[in-house]
Amino acid sequence: MIKCENLQKVYPLKKLHGYPALKGLDFSIEEGEFAAITGPSGCGKSTLLNILGFLDNPSSGHYLFRGRNVSTFSDSERSHLRLSEVGFVFQSFNLLPRFSALDNVRLPMLYLGTDSDESRVKAAALLERVGLADKADHSPLELSGGERQRVGVARALANDPKLLLADEPTGNLDSKNGVEVMALLKDLNAAGLTVIMVTHDMALAKAASRVIRMKDGLIEA
Ligand SMILES: Nc1ncnc2c1ncn2[C@@H]1O[C@H](COP(=O)(O)OP(=O)(O)OP(=O)(O)O)[C@@H](O)[C@H]1O
Ligand SMILES: [Mg+2]
Repeated sequence: MIKCENLQKVYPLKKLHGYPALKGLDFSIEEGEFAAITGPSGCGKSTLLNILGFLDNPSSGHYLFRGRNVSTFSDSERSHLRLSEVGFVFQSFNLLPRFSALDNVRLPMLYLGTDSDESRVKAAALLERVGLADKADHSPLELSGGERQRVGVARALANDPKLLLADEPTGNLDSKNGVEVMALLKDLNAAGLTVIMVTHDMALAKAASRVIRMKDGLIEA
């Protein structure tokens, strides 16, 4: 599904040299894997995940996604890929408070041009899938942290992604809700979805089928 060759990211700074956040990563992720990315704060985990999810571009090196060399894609090709093939789950949920849970889940479908009624039916099914059928009309402000993140997962699934990316998805949750969200990701992986999750928590990382440990912009193990 993913192959990275000498992937590098240098953030531009005002000073002479930029900041090298990724210093040349080589790795592959197979379809169906559940990979956890761990490592100390600042080692480049989010930088890597953002590149894998087309939220950011590498400075050099190659990123092949399902056989396509994404490094050469234009911004609009990359945006389309982001919307249609990956789902992103964020630590801080990133839900829109003025929209209901249902409409938050519908949004990525509407961006892709899905019919309004169809999106409503599909979003309701996704909320049911994450155990929130009865909370569809709640605003995110009227949901618990664990519930918000389950809406976040439902939204990430809106366009039937091939790949789910999660950056510290349990970082703002207590341990009980963290375990529940983790179980949900495990279920989705068991049903065939490829999952890449960033976490500080070694106990959670152990639930993955593979752990990628990063240090100082490199893969350590
Ligand atoms: N926009 C930016 N401009 C300059 N430097 C940046 C930028 N974003 C991140 N960095 C630097 O790149 C390095 C990697 O950042 P990144 O956010 O990927 O770390 P992380 O491993 O996700 O850390 P954490 O566990 O704290 O979330 C850090 O040293 C950070 O200071
Ligand atoms: Mg981070």
